[in-house]
Amino acid sequence: MMWKLLICFILNVSCSHRADGIYLKNEVAVINEFESITECVITLSGLLNMSPTFTILKQKDEDNKENEFIEQLVRSLAKHNTPQAILEDVTDHDEDSHDLYINSLTVVFFGSCEEAIQFDYKNVNKIKYLIVISDPTSNDCGKILKAIKETVGEFDVTFIIQDFSSDINKIYTIFPYKDINTCEMVHKLTHINTCINSTLETQEVFPMKTPTNYNKCPLRVGMATLFPFSTIKDHNSLKSYDPLEESQIKGSDLEMLKVISKHFNASLELHYINRSEENPYVDTELLKFLFNDSLDICAGGLYRIYGDVVAYSGIYSRQDVLWIYYGQRSERSWENLIRKMYSSYIFIIFYFTYSIIWYFICLFDGNSVSFTNTLLYGWGGLVGATSIQEPRSAKQKVINIMYLILCVFLSVFVSIQLYSYLTIQVPPQLFKTNDEVMESGRVAFLKPITKYFNRDEKYLKFADKSQDCSSFMDCSNKTIQYNGLTIVLQSYFYIIQAMTTVDDEARILRASENVLTVFNEMLIRKNSSLVVKIQKIIPRLFEGGITRKQFIEAIGLSVVDKAGIANANTITNSYSCQAGCKITLKQIAGAFHIWLFGCGLSCFFFVIEVLSKRKIKTI
Ligand SMILES: *[C@@H]1O[C@H](CO)[C@@H](O)[C@H](O)[C@H]1NC(C)=O
Ligand SMILES: *[C@@H]1O[C@H](CO)[C@@H](O)[C@H](O)[C@H]1NC(C)=O
Ligand SMILES: *[C@@H]1O[C@H](CO)[C@@H](O)[C@H](O)[C@H]1NC(C)=O
Ligand SMILES: *[C@@H]1O[C@H](CO)[C@@H](O)[C@H](O)[C@H]1NC(C)=O
Ligand SMILES: *[C@@H]1O[C@H](CO)[C@@H](O)[C@H](O)[C@H]1NC(C)=O
Ligand SMILES: *[C@@H]1O[C@H](CO)[C@@H](O)[C@H](O)[C@H]1NC(C)=O
Repeated sequence: MMWKLLICFILNVSCSHRADGIYLKNEVAVINEFESITECVITLSGLLNMSPTFTILKQKDEDNKENEFIEQLVRSLAKHNTPQAILEDVTDHDEDSHDLYINSLTVVFFGSCEEAIQFDYKNVNKIKYLIVISDPTSNDCGKILKAIKETVGEFDVTFIIQDFSSDINKIYTIFPYKDINTCEMVHKLTHINTCINSTLETQEVFPMKTPTNYNKCPLRVGMATLFPFSTIKDHNSLKSYDPLEESQIKGSDLEMLKVISKHFNASLELHYINRSEENPYVDTELLKFLFNDSLDICAGGLYRIYGDVVAYSGIYSRQDVLWIYYGQRSERSWENLIRKMYSSYIFIIFYFTYSIIWYFICLFDGNSVSFTNTLLYGWGGLVGATSIQEPRSAKQKVINIMYLILCVFLSVFVSIQLYSYLTIQVPPQLFKTNDEVMESGRVAFLKPITKYFNRDEKYLKFADKSQDCSSFMDCSNKTIQYNGLTIVLQSYFYIIQAMTTVDDEARILRASENVLTVFNEMLIRKNSSLVVKIQKIIPRLFEGGITRKQFIEAIGLSVVDKAGIANANTITNSYSCQAGCKITLKQIAGAFHIWLFGCGLSCFFFVIEVLSKRKIKTI
């Protein structure tokens, strides 16, 4: 342990620790010169959202003024039952101490302004520092504090400067500003609050340090490409960091950047960033521009894949990655009709059963009967061509009635099948889950460099058998051509579905299940003062549905609509019959063909019969 941690959690009981020269005389109510300012410190801490632990940084062993201040602060905190710790150092030596000061308010006392600027503000990006300065010799501490404006300017460091002539203590912090002429970041000491008799004038303690007015200075943005977030004309001829005009870019990320730049009253300075759209993991060149301060933000359909070397804007878009496939409608054919009629074999079974029963009943009753005639009349009855044999007893009447009912059912069954065959079209084969897709026996078309993105064993086996294609358009074309499958981003799915409609019906369909979902975020330089503000703006736009709207608009409202309508048509037309379901003679032409064939056949037999009779006569 490098530093000594002297914790004195005071909970209503008197603290009797003796700690390195600090003697806590809390039984004796001494009114001293620090009473007013320590009350201010406590009132200030009440403005923070959390109720903090106080860590009091004790710097010197033998400093009466500091000791006196700490003594007074400890006494005041005890009065308010506030937990506190006295530390000698604030550096990360172990987890516990880290947690302790991250969630606390660190109070440091200085007897002179010079000491305050010589102090080492360790971990200033994590710790909230409240600096108390009590310098009776200096009238203009503010001027002296300017020396450290760059070190602490963007962090939570607030100064309370004690006024000796009155009880009015002024509170200052240093703010970054964009200089209107040079566009450099400049820092100014600013008076933010005043503590009079321990009441505060405003609600400010640690104000947000993001400059909100860039005075039209540029916000430097790197734009990569990915439809529909950012598409750049002729980007293949550009190098990274080449300047871009707004007019060269289309897409939803540009719209969002416009909102952000308006928020900061900044202008947009756009640069091209070269990266592979299809395998974003390989390109890290864009990070270098963020690291060396050439860019503030990178956008254009980027993902949170670069670890914590950069800051992220927060999610502004989510998209599904999904299987798409060619959905072909089955044509109306005689094979289909026969397939539909297949289950009528049940009537044949009943027909034979009837014939056998009828035959044996007649034998039993002693009527003359021929089995062949029974079969013939039975068949005639079934298809409605002849009447069935005359019943001669009550038994025979019952069995005939039952049989006639069956015949009526057959006729209804056949009519329904014919009707549905002529009017209803089934939808194309639909896949719900990814497993169904992979078990469908169709060929997948996938890009070789990206196809092994999923480590699932079943998927890998399937991907091994896939065929190669080169780009999104190529994969989609092959999918249509060979009745195959491919994986695309949702935005591309809309485009291709809209592009390939036939009679307002979609021909490319998606599996209901996603392969995965990807989220898009912008990258921000990590130490940029923009981070906090942008991380507030972007999620608000996302939750408000603004980014979704921009996304759809970038794809094209008409395209997304067309895709949606086509998709709906494929399903509804399949059942409600809004297209191609009028029954015409053409559709039942088959019946005429069979009839003609029958006529031909009977003519043939007629001729045979005439010829054979003539032969018999001549004999
Ligand atoms: C502070 O409070 C004291 C006593 O309550 C009062 O006499 C004094 O005028 C107050 N000071 C100011 C600046 O309000
Ligand atoms: C934005 O900056 C310009 C240039 O400095 C300034 O004239 C304008 O008032 C600013 N607008 C806002 C809303 O602050
Ligand atoms: C852009 O990046 C790709 C690889 O991601 C590379 O093949 C290509 O040469 C780069 N283009 C330029 C102009 O640097
Ligand atoms: C920043 O890094 C990029 C890539 O390494 C380099 O091309 C560029 O010149 C650098 N810019 C500055 C200002 O150093
Ligand atoms: C895909 O097909 C469309 C239309 O048939 C054609 O215009 C396009 O050039 C094809 N694209 C590729 C990459 O084969
Ligand atoms: C951010 O960090 C880079 C390098 O680490 C540095 O050059 C730059 O000045 C820093 N910017 C700010 C605003 O602190």
